Amino acid sequence: MKSMQRVKALAAAVSLAAAVGTAGAQQTSVEVLHWWTSGGEAKSAAELKKMMQTRGFGWKDFAVAGGGGDAAMTALKARVVSGNPPTAAQIKGPSIQEWGREGVLASVDAAAKDGKWDDLLPPVVANVMKFKGQYVAAPVNVHRVNWLWVNPDVLKKAGVAAAPQTWDQFFDAAAKIQKAGLIAIAHGGQPWQDATVFESVVLGVGGAEFYRKSLVQLDEASIKSPTMVKAFDTLGRIKTYIDKDAPGRDWNLATAMVINGKAGMQFMGDWAKGEFTAANKAPGKDYLCINAPGTQGSFTFNIDSFVMFKQSDANAQKAQLALASSIMSPEFQEVFNLNKGSIPARAGVSRAKFDSCATKSMDDMTASNKGGGLVPSFAHGMAIPSSTQGAIVDVVARFMNSNMTSQQAVDALVKASKVK
Ligand code: BGC
Repeated sequence: MKSMQRVKALAAAVSLAAAVGTAGAQQTSVEVLHWWTSGGEAKSAAELKKMMQTRGFGWKDFAVAGGGGDAAMTALKARVVSGNPPTAAQIKGPSIQEWGREGVLASVDAAAKDGKWDDLLPPVVANVMKFKGQYVAAPVNVHRVNWLWVNPDVLKKAGVAAAPQTWDQFFDAAAKIQKAGLIAIAHGGQPWQDATVFESVVLGVGGAEFYRKSLVQLDEASIKSPTMVKAFDTLGRIKTYIDKDAPGRDWNLATAMVINGKAGMQFMGDWAKGEFTAANKAPGKDYLCINAPGTQGSFTFNIDSFVMFKQSDANAQKAQLALASSIMSPEFQEVFNLNKGSIPARAGVSRAKFDSCATKSMDDMTASNKGGGLVPSFAHGMAIPSSTQGAIVDVVARFMNSNMTSQQAVDALVKASKVK
């Protein structure tokens, strides 16, 4: 009996070894969900693919087009619900905790311990990447959202002397550009882009403390204050400088309008810089990156990260650890962020190759952190639960696409901020 058991155990061990051997001989692939499909984004994603291939892993691209990632999140939910999650997915902010609570995330703590992530990441970043104390995600970058992208030739043609710093200067420039027969503000009418402009307006009109109270803490008194009415008034004025073809336009096409001089300015996070870079444009010469009006000293951060989903296969688990450690390597953080327009999430990456927009971002992040102006991006899923965010974004999109008054928008915002 005993020897029979031993034979069975031996046979099981042999077939397991064979299985592992076979799987090892084939290449293990990582399937990675993301929404990086624009020129600059695709170049950045290709760097991760390359790095995994150098480490001996295959890459199964699970790209779902759609800026801001709404379509990607819908596709992801369908896959997880059907019990077939990808190896990793681009998920950020509080959503990481939401997925963690579903019990579907895998720990990459082994890679984090090995790579000393706790020493390399600022605690605000590290905490977002952990679920119940264990790393379940790896951050690739820090994007800044409160930028204004400007074509200096357009300013010149329109007779605008200097890039705008204040709202008065901004609207003065916009009026002059429009008068010169060009489009003042390049925009794509999609809810997430509307929300991206809105958050910079709230920050620029109300300041960092007001932004934090209204869009992060969802404080009712702030949401229904005259400052919020003023923010919608400002957004309403912005609307008048957007062209009639904006509805549905993708963000990168709006950026292309600034690149080729059809439009003067765009409110967008620094993934827009990835488009300028991919088009071989130089900052300070072909384009300007400046703070959105009135937001000097503030910094809205948006951190992209890859979250790992539980895998039953041992090789897939190994691949996951390799993906996590690749993402955090200084080589990857450098080359990826040079293409993506963002800055590295981890310490210890040389800034030598980064351009003036990126080094400004690095310096402004440090300074705003000291001065109290560092705030999470509401529009990019860093600040509040996704359900509440969705309800607020709907209000902003409705305001952009109707004749709703600022007061009506504020009243709707109060209700939306209570959606759980
Ligand atoms: C992401 C960026 C991406 C942008 C446009 C943002 O939410 O953080 O990585 O480039 O959406 O797709």
